Amino acid sequence: MARQTLLRGDLVAIPTETVYGLAADALNDQAVQKIYDLKGRPSINPLIIHVSSLEMAMEYGLFSDAAYEIAHYFWIQNPQPLTLVVPLKGSISPLVTAGLPTIAIRYPHHLTAHTLIQRYGRPLAAPSANISNTLSPTNAERVQQHFPDLFVLDGGCCQVGLESTILETHSFQILRHGGCTQELLEDFLGKRLIENLTPDQICCPGQMRRHYAPKIPVRMNATSPLEGEAWVTFGIGDQGFSLSPDGDLKEAAAKLFQTLAFIENSSYQRIAVMAIPPIGLGVAINDRLKRASFEIFQG
Ligand code: TXA
Ligand code: MG
Repeated sequence: MARQTLLRGDLVAIPTETVYGLAADALNDQAVQKIYDLKGRPSINPLIIHVSSLEMAMEYGLFSDAAYEIAHYFWIQNPQPLTLVVPLKGSISPLVTAGLPTIAIRYPHHLTAHTLIQRYGRPLAAPSANISNTLSPTNAERVQQHFPDLFVLDGGCCQVGLESTILETHSFQILRHGGCTQELLEDFLGKRLIENLTPDQICCPGQMRRHYAPKIPVRMNATSPLEGEAWVTFGIGDQGFSLSPDGDLKEAAAKLFQTLAFIENSSYQRIAVMAIPPIGLGVAINDRLKRASFEIFQG
């Protein structure tokens, strides 16, 4: 059913270990255009292609020796949610890369996504399955709320809960923090990764100052909730909306978007979130919270 839908040039929402994706056949222009239309996504914002093997990745991207080693380790040997940006090689719908000479490639490990791509035999272009600039969905119900008419493959709750980390493999820059920690990448590479992104260098809207945002204001590093604020806690037991009673960052990452989504659909007017340690997955959690809390009028 999912394969027929893709073959017809229609969209399918797929579960991945990070967040749900809104997938189209990456070789079909009209299908890819539907992604931009449905999400209300600017066409200058390129998409990630999802593959089911290194061989498939190498048909569309040019892998240096270093990029190949990273892919082999983080996709096959020690699977992590890591997207690699490499020079574009094979022909793909130009809408996917938004005209860039590079392409972002990811190897999802969720069994449903993996099996679908493997059987389909072609890469799937897929951004997160939400209306642009809102929270990424981490379960099938949330996808359906965004897109009631969409065919959704239900694969349960996403285990990671945050989008993949995006690594540019030429200059070794992290373009987006995500489910694969900087520490893991640095351990493997044996060097510190460059982090010098400034707003001028934004090349991917995942880096925009306001993004991944709920409908109501978010206040970070709060020590207690103010009147009308939902209280999102970390490491202090079951108080408020607990991301993790015991202070486990993996659990907090997995619960972050679903907690914010639950609150934005309730009667609270604002959200206050306790400080989350900026280490390991805490870096990506803080990154999402920062973009969620950035007020539109500030920039
Ligand atoms: O975990 C994920 O990565 C999820 C799941 C569905 O795979 N996908 C996801 O896609 O988060 P999306 O479209 O929401 O975010 C992809 C980001 C965008 O910020 C886009 O600008 C960036 O990847 N991107 C895509 N191609 C790029 C390229 N060639 N160079 C730099 N950034 C790129
Ligand atoms: Mg997204």
